Amino acid sequence: MSDVLTKPIRFSPSLPSRSAPTEAVYGLRPEAAEFPMMLVLSFVYPCNAECPNCPYTNSNIRDSYKDAPFMSEDIFKKIADEAGPHGAYLRISGGGEPMLHPKAVELLCYAKKVGCKIGLITNGSAFTERKSIALLRAGVDMIEFSVDACDPETYAIVRKGLKWKHLLRNARRMIEIRNRIGSTSKIVASGINQQGVDIDAVEKFWRDEIGVDNFIKRKFLTWGLNTSIDPSGSADPAPYLDIEDTPCPFIFERLNIDSRGNVMVCGYDIAANTSMGMVGQQSISDIWHGEGFSHYRDMHLSNRGSEISMCASCPDWKYRSWNHNYWKVVKGAELQREATFQRLGLDDDFQSVAVDTAEGN
Ligand SMILES: C[S@@+](CC[C@H](N)C(=O)[O-])C[C@H]1O[C@@H](n2cnc3c(N)ncnc32)[C@H](O)[C@@H]1O
Ligand code: SF4
Repeated sequence: MSDVLTKPIRFSPSLPSRSAPTEAVYGLRPEAAEFPMMLVLSFVYPCNAECPNCPYTNSNIRDSYKDAPFMSEDIFKKIADEAGPHGAYLRISGGGEPMLHPKAVELLCYAKKVGCKIGLITNGSAFTERKSIALLRAGVDMIEFSVDACDPETYAIVRKGLKWKHLLRNARRMIEIRNRIGSTSKIVASGINQQGVDIDAVEKFWRDEIGVDNFIKRKFLTWGLNTSIDPSGSADPAPYLDIEDTPCPFIFERLNIDSRGNVMVCGYDIAANTSMGMVGQQSISDIWHGEGFSHYRDMHLSNRGSEISMCASCPDWKYRSWNHNYWKVVKGAELQREATFQRLGLDDDFQSVAVDTAEGN
């Protein structure tokens, strides 16, 4: 991952010229000039937990997806087939737990085979040994355990419905197998910086005791009008950027797709109020370069993002960052994985292999 990904970059010449100073600093990231660097997939809506901070616990969005609780194989493969040649990241998440998808392992292995990078976000509860091996052998790039705690008591509150001992077993086993087979998968943990949680202690525990490759300290988000989350739950409301003069970075690097194949403009729109296009009806590339995205980018680059009603209502824009972002996490995790392999005397010549995906599920 190059350094440029962690820095604001120059305005893309493909966008209409504007006179505001923002255009000289921000714009499509070079890696996203042709195709989004990241496609965030709402792969699943059902969940086996009831985290009190979760936007889906605090809204009726899950219920509204009863017609498409899981992304179909057809939609997923269309996305993977187009994203693969670009080496784009499929970020596998959603309104529920991705590993509950009946074809999770099979589809993620398929996406790796066609060239995608995969970032799986998981509550970590549903990994069997066999599934872990399959994902690690396929070289799934990032496995993010959402942990939020470093003791069973806090975990029972912030990750209601899940078992601390299962999380520990599954995370430890994932790291142990990864190191044993020399997989290139990076394994990280995340924690929401919320009231009632000592986030520094959580980070220390997961780095030092469990041995994850990196730790993602998440800002506590509310998704505004989409949910009933109380913003006072945040333990660190300090913004990363000033929305008065800084465009939202997301529309210059990534897009979001729900289980029906609808492309939303960004991750704030969890209720799918926007439709930039539908997978299967247009190419993702056409959607990325279409009028809808150009309008959002143009408005943000000319400091008029707040004139778009959805952006005006987005309390999370100030918590996006051009510098402190996923690309930085990936880079840090890769360095740590390499350091671990060196320490263990492991060769870094791992070749991902086809897996028996039927058994892997
Ligand atoms: C909605 S979950 C879906 C994936 C999976 N079920 C999990 O828990 O990792 C995706 C990510 O959103 C995070 N998240 C949930 N509520 C949040 C909040 N209020 N603020 C910031 N992140 C939140 C979770 O911790 C998780 O890392
Ligand atoms: S496990 Fe993930 S999707 Fe499920 S309730 Fe918790 S944060 Fe939400």
